[in-house]
Order: sequence, then structure tokens, then C-alpha cells
Amino acid sequence: MPFTTVSGTRLHYLDAGSGDPPLLLLHAFPVSAGMWEEQIVALAPRWRVVAPDLPGFGQSPASPAADPTIDAWGDLVAELVTSLGLGSVVVGGLSMGGYVAFSLLRRHPSLVAGLVLADTRAAADTPEVAQRRTDQQQKIAEGKLNEVIEGMLGTLLSEQTRTERPEVVDRVRALASLTPGDTVVAGLEAMKHRADATGELSLIDVPVLVLVGEHDGPSPPSVAREMAEAANARLEVLPGAGHLSNLEAPVEFNRALESFLSGL
Ligand code: MLT
Repeated sequence: MPFTTVSGTRLHYLDAGSGDPPLLLLHAFPVSAGMWEEQIVALAPRWRVVAPDLPGFGQSPASPAADPTIDAWGDLVAELVTSLGLGSVVVGGLSMGGYVAFSLLRRHPSLVAGLVLADTRAAADTPEVAQRRTDQQQKIAEGKLNEVIEGMLGTLLSEQTRTERPEVVDRVRALASLTPGDTVVAGLEAMKHRADATGELSLIDVPVLVLVGEHDGPSPPSVAREMAEAANARLEVLPGAGHLSNLEAPVEFNRALESFLSGL
């Protein structure tokens, strides 16, 4: 699987298939591009699919920047798109990947031909969420990274997935456990300081698809519905899925994605 260096930062990315428009998939926190395996297998026969590991996640080394930001990651991803000669891409971001997608759209609009916002939100952190992230960082500083990750697993997956599909739980745990504590801390900090994109939703002038798991706790269907209305987007609620809807309901997720891409 390929690596490239953009702005002095080494990035690992998955790259499969061919066909326009290319799809750029941006992963959630605290996992990596490996979460997109089912989407790559389903879509690569018709479209080119590129999925980077953001710095420090998956196989990408941590960024040389001391304090990475969501915008810095958006800029890196823009450079990746340009350096691969992808032209303009459909950007699909799930949760934290959605935050990066908003940044990419704001800072590099000419690279974005369409947007898929999955289990994410346009709004910045509330003070309560920012405080929870600070508490998690504190726990990691005390050597309790595993406890923090296990706590996250409880909110990332629906109860149905957690009780009926242990293989999905194991997979998410395995992906998350590859993320070093420093990267988890840096990611929490980056998310705390991300810009609020709520006011930008009605200005989006590319086609948008909003996807959400029926039982998504962190970014629930009510948030997705408001986002879809503001962005004049199609909304699909994926039955039985929680926050990591692409892993929990891959068949429905892929169907929605294929139908969106086919209609562009
Ligand atoms: C994610 O899945 O990327 C996280 O839930 C994002 C967040 O903590 O806001």
C-alpha cells in the first residue's frame, strides 16, 4: 500500500480502482483508513477510492507539527488530492473525517465535487464535550489509554452491534489500539479547537449526501436531519447502526453511497 510525502509529512493511504468522480474517504477517531475496507471492496470496481491515514493514525507516522489541527489535516489531504492528480473529488468523511471534510471544503473548494457527511456534525464542540475531551486527555496522561479507548467503544457502536456482532467490536478495538496515546491526545485537542461550520451548510454548492446510523449517540439522527435540511441534502438513516455506520451497516451504507455517486 502506498506512502507519499506532502509538506514534509509522510502519509499512508489506501488507493484502489479507477473511474470518475474519485472518492476520498476520511476516517473517524480514533481509528484509521482500515475502517473503509468494505466500502473500498464494494466501490473500487466502478470508482477510484483513496483513503488516507491521517498523521499518527494507522500506518502514517505522527505529524512533525507539535499541535496538529483539523485545518492542517484538511490542507494535507488537499495536497494529497493534488499530488495524486485526482482533480476534484467526492469527499466522504465519517465523524472526525467529516470535520476534516468541512475544512477541505472551506479552504480548498475547487477540489470538492460532492460531499458525503456520515455520522458527523457541523457544529463545534460544546463546553461539555470539550471538557470530556480534556478529562480523557488527563486519563491518558495517567497511563489509562486502554480505559479511554474502551469507553469510546461503548459510544461508537450501537448496543445491537455490541451484543450481536462481537467481530465488529473486535475490529474497531483492533483499529483503535493501533493509535498511539500521543495521537489520541493530539486528535482530541484538534477536535476541541475545530471551527464551527454550521453557517456554511446553506452555502454548499455541490451535491451532499448525509448518512447516519439509527442509533448514533455522538451525532444522532436529529443532528443529521438538521444538517441535511440546511445543506439541502439527501438524508439516509441506516437501521440498527450506531456511530460507525459504515462498519455496522456496510450493505446499506454502500448502497446509499453508490446511488449518490451514480447520480452525479
Ligand atoms: C469520531 O468518531 O470521529 C469521534 O466520535 C469524533 C468526536 O469525538 O467528535
